[in-house]
Amino acid sequence: MFANPFNLCLVLGMRAKLSELGSRQKPSDITRLMAIALEQPNMLSLAAGFTDNESLPIGDVHEIVGEIAGSGSAGKAALQYGANKGREGLRALLAKRIRSFDTLSEDALDNERLFISNGSQQALYLAIQTLCDPGDYVLVEQPTYFVFLEILQGFGVNALPMPMEASGEIDVNGLESLLVQAEVDGILEKIKAVYLVSYFSNPSGHCVSEKVKSDLGALLSRQKTTVAVIEDAAYRELYYQDPFESRSSLALEEFANLPVLYTSTLTKPYASGLKVGYSYCSDTNWLNSMLNVKGQQDFGTANFAQAIVEGALESGRFDTHLRALRLLYENKMLTLQESLAPSLKSLGWKWDQPLGGLYLWLQSPNEMRTDADSPFHDSCIEEGVFYVPGDLCFASTGNRDRIRLSFGALNTDEIQEAARRFVAAAASMTKSATA
Ligand SMILES: Cc1ncc(COP(=O)(O)O)c(C=O)c1O
Repeated sequence: MFANPFNLCLVLGMRAKLSELGSRQKPSDITRLMAIALEQPNMLSLAAGFTDNESLPIGDVHEIVGEIAGSGSAGKAALQYGANKGREGLRALLAKRIRSFDTLSEDALDNERLFISNGSQQALYLAIQTLCDPGDYVLVEQPTYFVFLEILQGFGVNALPMPMEASGEIDVNGLESLLVQAEVDGILEKIKAVYLVSYFSNPSGHCVSEKVKSDLGALLSRQKTTVAVIEDAAYRELYYQDPFESRSSLALEEFANLPVLYTSTLTKPYASGLKVGYSYCSDTNWLNSMLNVKGQQDFGTANFAQAIVEGALESGRFDTHLRALRLLYENKMLTLQESLAPSLKSLGWKWDQPLGGLYLWLQSPNEMRTDADSPFHDSCIEEGVFYVPGDLCFASTGNRDRIRLSFGALNTDEIQEAARRFVAAAASMTKSATA
């Protein structure tokens, strides 16, 4: 009998010859760390940016699926391939939603410039794939969304950290000096984009003020080279009490002559498992290029998942769910912070209370290291609690005293227990430092 060639490959240990891009890919830092942590039974993870499990809108989805199934040929069409750009009705609803956040008039945005993606993650990937060549640069905040840094790394693109104020705002004057220096160094032309996580940021919870955003737009508009703007508004709708009063770059006149990609998602505010994200692009060439690549990748985001979120938005179920979710996340944030605060604050730990989003962003006392190789990280694993080391969220080295804690996935009792373990690890470190 002849051996199956596939098995023969395995037997001989033959390996595919990867492309330059393929060889550059490495497992996500957090996936690697989580695999290590999850080997420990009873581990409580404050690491994963997952949404709350209990409140996922399964009842809504059950009803909406019933409505789709009962709607005859329109229902069947939801089980057919859809358009590459996404469902027309959903795109219209989402463009209207952006207009209402940004107090824009009816004719301000063109629905044809809005496309649906497999989560906003896909849009971020398409954006970089179509803008950047290996060796190019993208300006990022410090800290920033660490999976975006991984996309850049995967494409061989350099993340260029922007100077920041102590308040967490971008230091626009400092950035101007950086751009002058970039021109002297001959790399200005290679700076292709700036990436902002502008509302209740992952990881810091920070929001970019309208003034800083406008100053940034004005600065970029004065440059000799075109720097595209990627505004990631993934958490814009996840405020606790009030929306953050800053219009997006789609609405500010300082951005009128810049290519802007505004990207957001229905995963965090509704159902992460449906993986429906959306983006609006002001630049025709860039938009078409992203859509061409999306066409090659998937020729359209899952039509059925889109039909479900469209039904949720249209019927008002989405907003009802979101109102409850805001309260829930505020309560979870307060539970975590109240369980940590008395002990951790007395040990010198610092953080700001966020006004939205899913994260607490902690700074350790006396620059105590919190990275994955630090004694503190080991101590947390021993206690049975897991976090995202903050250094992963920086493009520059040397920021090893930060931690991202996520309160999305655990229930209240688990949050309290995870906080107790975290405090125990922090206290043991202080003891060993003073022993
Ligand atoms: C800042 C930010 N942007 C984008 C995403 C991608 O989210 P999704 O693909 O679920 O829309 C995430 C997910 O955690 C995020 O935190």
